[in-house]
Amino acid sequence: MITFKNVTKTFHLDSKTSISPVKDVSMDIASGEFIIITGRSGSGKTTLLNLSAGMVKPNSGRIIIDQTDLADMTDRQLSTLRNQKLGFVFQFPSLLSSLNVLENVTLPGIFDQGQNEKTIKARGLDLLKTMGLADKAAVYPRQLSAGEQKRVVLSRSLLNKPQVILADEPTSDLDEQTELEVMNLLRGINETGVTFIMVTHSLQLVPYASRAFNMENGILAEISRTGSKL
Ligand SMILES: Nc1ncnc2c1ncn2[C@@H]1O[C@H](COP(=O)(O)OP(=O)(O)OP(=O)(O)O)[C@@H](O)[C@H]1O
Ligand SMILES: [Mg+2]
Repeated sequence: MITFKNVTKTFHLDSKTSISPVKDVSMDIASGEFIIITGRSGSGKTTLLNLSAGMVKPNSGRIIIDQTDLADMTDRQLSTLRNQKLGFVFQFPSLLSSLNVLENVTLPGIFDQGQNEKTIKARGLDLLKTMGLADKAAVYPRQLSAGEQKRVVLSRSLLNKPQVILADEPTSDLDEQTELEVMNLLRGINETGVTFIMVTHSLQLVPYASRAFNMENGILAEISRTGSKL
């Protein structure tokens, strides 16, 4: 589903300083996997997800999604890929403050031609219900707690029924109980065939993964498979 072949990303901060948050990373993620990536702050996890979605371009190496090399795609094709095949849960707040919760959740549906508004709205409401937010559909993001906002973003990422969800610390603002509830929801979605690549600082979530990786200074290493201990 997603393959990285010797991918390196370097940012040049000025003419003398550069940083490579992703160094020679190779990985092969099959359809239906639940991947968890852990690692210290600044180790390159978000950059890795941004590369997977084609939002950041590698300096060297190849990134292949569903047999297509991202380097061979136009910006338009990349946008279509992101809108139709990928769901993204950003690490930082990404809800539009001028839209209410339901409007935020249904936003990706606007770009998906062939679906009518009523169907999109019903699906949005359904997702909010699954996330325990049915009564918040008409309120605005600023009226929500951080954890509720995270759940709205998760609902939005699921709207277009993506094949892959790239989730950057989707449970970071949740209490332990809600975190486990959300993880169980994500597991249920994964069991329907959706591939997950999720970044988290919670090592206790590793058992949810089919495989877990750790990033350290831009280098990715596999740390566990289902059934094996850390
Ligand atoms: N656009 C950019 N320009 C310059 N440097 C960048 C850019 N994006 C990321 N970096 C640098 O790359 C390094 C890794 O950043 P990244 O956001 O991938 O880390 P992270 O593992 O997600 O950290 P955290 O757990 O804090 O979210 C950081 O030192 C960061 O400053
Ligand atoms: Mg990050």
